Amino acid sequence: MRVCLWRLSRIGRQWRASPRGRLSVAGVTLGRMSERITTDGHATASPPVDWDAQAAVFDDEPDHGLRDPLVRAAWAERLRGWLPARPADVLDLGCGTGSLSQLAAEQGHRVTGVDLSEAMIERARAKLAGRDAVFLPGDAARPPVGERRFDVVLVRHVLWALSDPAGALGHWRSLLRPSGRLVLVEGVWGTVTPVGIPTDRLLTLLTPLTEHIRVEHLSEDVRLWGKEVADERYAVVAGV
Ligand SMILES: C[S@@+](CC[C@H](N)C(=O)[O-])C[C@H]1O[C@@H](n2cnc3c(N)ncnc32)[C@H](O)[C@@H]1O
Repeated sequence: MRVCLWRLSRIGRQWRASPRGRLSVAGVTLGRMSERITTDGHATASPPVDWDAQAAVFDDEPDHGLRDPLVRAAWAERLRGWLPARPADVLDLGCGTGSLSQLAAEQGHRVTGVDLSEAMIERARAKLAGRDAVFLPGDAARPPVGERRFDVVLVRHVLWALSDPAGALGHWRSLLRPSGRLVLVEGVWGTVTPVGIPTDRLLTLLTPLTEHIRVEHLSEDVRLWGKEVADERYAVVAGV
């Protein structure tokens, strides 16, 4: 099945779960979809995306590949505000092709990236060749980092699709050094049947785990997306 966040948001009015739970986009059945209802009654869905297949085209979207200098500069500026001022150990979970990892490395940070998709990992390794960065295949919910601890756990557009977001957040919290922080970039995409994790839901999950929670609303910043967006997009920086 080939579908990703940007496509879900773009075609949010067109896709539907059939009574048998298969995901259809513009009349094309894409695959089985598992739907979860959060405690606040918000429906979230986890379509079984083929990330290996997506890897080749993933960077074509402005906010994925960051090829447009204006989009790149906008993300670099936000990231600078979210990451520590001094060089830090950053764990980028569900790192994809390594676009945010690359920005973090350019800002002087040491990066460990983890992704389930070997094809994504390959691209990330190529993108950050020669940088202080290592990429590991593995599950973002339980990254294969052993006893290592990090100053930052950075996760963009991944938490919403995990089967147990609360469990993942608790584990990520345990991977942080004292004074570490979670940097989570999430949203809710689509209008008719939205997918994602709403800000208030994420804050509810984070409150028992972290302190100093800061939310930045990102929808209005056109530079980040390379276009106008109407849905909910945000970042949370949660210190421990
Ligand atoms: C929407 S992309 C985001 C990529 C990257 N974080 C970014 O913002 O450019 C989602 C990524 O998460 C990865 N992914 C999805 N579920 C995962 C899991 N359970 N463990 C590790 N990676 C996962 C996918 O392979 C894909 O690369």
